[in-house]
Amino acid sequence: MIIAVDGPAASGKGTLSRRLASLYGLKHLDTGALYRGVAWLMLKRDLDPRDADQATEVARNFDPEALGSAELRTPTVGRGASLVAVHEGVRSALFDFQRNFGLTPPGAVLDGRDIGTVIFPDATVKFFITASPEERARRRYEELRVQDPSVTYESTLEELRRRDERDQSRAEAPLKPAADAEIIDTSKLTPDEVLARASRLVDNALRDFAKQG
Ligand code: CDP
Ligand code: CDP
Repeated sequence: MIIAVDGPAASGKGTLSRRLASLYGLKHLDTGALYRGVAWLMLKRDLDPRDADQATEVARNFDPEALGSAELRTPTVGRGASLVAVHEGVRSALFDFQRNFGLTPPGAVLDGRDIGTVIFPDATVKFFITASPEERARRRYEELRVQDPSVTYESTLEELRRRDERDQSRAEAPLKPAADAEIIDTSKLTPDEVLARASRLVDNALRDFAKQG
């Protein structure tokens, strides 16, 4: 079983994915961390994330040490991630890892931007999680200001809009809902309400699966 969870920044993908994984006994992969990891490695080595050849080289020799970095969630690394994510070479270097992760029993929940469209077009269930830019900026700001009191709501909103725009307009695997994805707007929902809605769909899919098998 593969559950694909896509959507823009701070929409609540990670929160829903962790909860679905624990409810259904599946593994969870935050695929954004891979792109953030590539960006972090490049910034650490003074490389430019816009350089397609260098970014591809770093992605091909991905050092898992990057996933443990405390800086992975910073806005600078988030911006770098969306810059490295436009390169076709980077995306194809990370493709097999994501496929293999999902295909290893017992299955997985993967969250990102292109799980339902590119990585697992054949996923059992697909969700597209979204929320208004203002609500997403508010959520992200609440997280960021704990670590960095100089962060403002306005700069968080501005950065989030810029990243949305880059993710939606790129040629390779742009952010968009798969045709068969269930869209959930979480702007006015609690994490519990989102989980209740999503798990109803997963339960239906499991029932159909059992009937067919
Ligand atoms: O947590 P947040 O939603 O802010 O971002 P993330 O999921 O960690 O992703 C960081 C960046 O990586 C995104 O803005 C995308 O540019 C890129 N990404 C992608 O292109 N494809 C994915 N499957 C996941 C992330
Ligand atoms: O993974 P993504 O960047 O899409 O978002 P997240 O890290 O799961 O969620 C961002 C913040 O929104 C977290 O602090 C959540 O607690 C909060 N939140 C949510 O995930 N879902 C809601 N329905 C409401 C708030």
